[in-house]
Amino acid sequence: MQDEFVFDSLYSIGSGLVQWRSPSNIALIKYWGKKPIQIPSNPSLSFCLSNCFTSTKVSFMKNDKTGINYQFFFDGKKKPKFESKLDHFFEKISKYCPYILEMKMVIESSNSFPHSSGIASSASAFSALSLCIMEIENLLNPKLEKSFFFRKASFLSRLGSGSACRSIIKKFSVWGKTDLISNSSDLFASSFNLKVHNSFNDLCDTILIVDKSEKEFSSTKGHELMNSHIFGEIRVSQAKSNLSLIIEAFDSGNYKLFIEVVETEALTLHAMMMTSNPYFILMKSNTLKIIKSVWEFRKKHNSRLCFTLDAGANVHLIYPKSEFDSVQRFILEVLVGYCENGKFINDKIGIGPFKL
Ligand code: PMV
Repeated sequence: MQDEFVFDSLYSIGSGLVQWRSPSNIALIKYWGKKPIQIPSNPSLSFCLSNCFTSTKVSFMKNDKTGINYQFFFDGKKKPKFESKLDHFFEKISKYCPYILEMKMVIESSNSFPHSSGIASSASAFSALSLCIMEIENLLNPKLEKSFFFRKASFLSRLGSGSACRSIIKKFSVWGKTDLISNSSDLFASSFNLKVHNSFNDLCDTILIVDKSEKEFSSTKGHELMNSHIFGEIRVSQAKSNLSLIIEAFDSGNYKLFIEVVETEALTLHAMMMTSNPYFILMKSNTLKIIKSVWEFRKKHNSRLCFTLDAGANVHLIYPKSEFDSVQRFILEVLVGYCENGKFINDKIGIGPFKL
């Protein structure tokens, strides 16, 4: 139990409505593997997006009975499928936010990106919901400090979905204790507080939708398999050394090093899946075709375009804004042919969540 985050002020619940919007994020140094409860095996680093976000509204009122009581609507419709995850989340956070046990909540959520696009929405969804919970906490105790508000929102998000804790932070975010970054923690994400060379301040992320069907293998299961993974320990030390290399790239503006680290991390994530027991593959043949095309394009045009992957078949193209036009031409001429129904989403590094 993390005492710092236990709400213990006196309060009385009225009724109200709170609303937050929170983005998705993309990891450059990947989190893959965890210990109970949601403690990452290695530090990860990501940036939050701008255009892919979840908007969540929570209306609340006092409940006569004690217990978790909510209704959940996604795009205006009930989604019983999400309820077991939400039940689990509320159960976990109720120690830290006991007031939720005395409320009835109506939660209404929607995503800016298509629900079935294969883009993981748990990061934006749990961060938006946690920010709403913290907004309620702030109504019960208006003296909350802003830094505590966001730290606890990140802490709560983590209990919903690990990577969600990084969505609370604008631009680059770090989650997982490391001596390399003084403000890092296993319990919540923090802003990357070291130098970021100008070359990385305007990163674009175009998400190529290779496969929009739901994942055949959950990331929860994938994380679990890392506990007995033959390369588990090596992976943790590789992630740590990649973090130190990306810090070096950020500091000096060494784009070549940045690309090497980002692509190594993406391919290692999938290599871990392919060498788990049981093994599984989330990439599709078009994922590989895109990767090869990116390598050819980079060489031919002396470009800074690189790719990363999430736990799925979709490819994130990462590149500086100065290359936006040439990369868009490349997508339309070549890569769009590898996307399901020609679908892709242009996004970029973002300013983090905000209150609606
Ligand atoms: O937050 P989860 O449990 O869905 O795990 C996500 C892990 C990756 O997206 C594959 C990597 C990361 O760091 O975001």
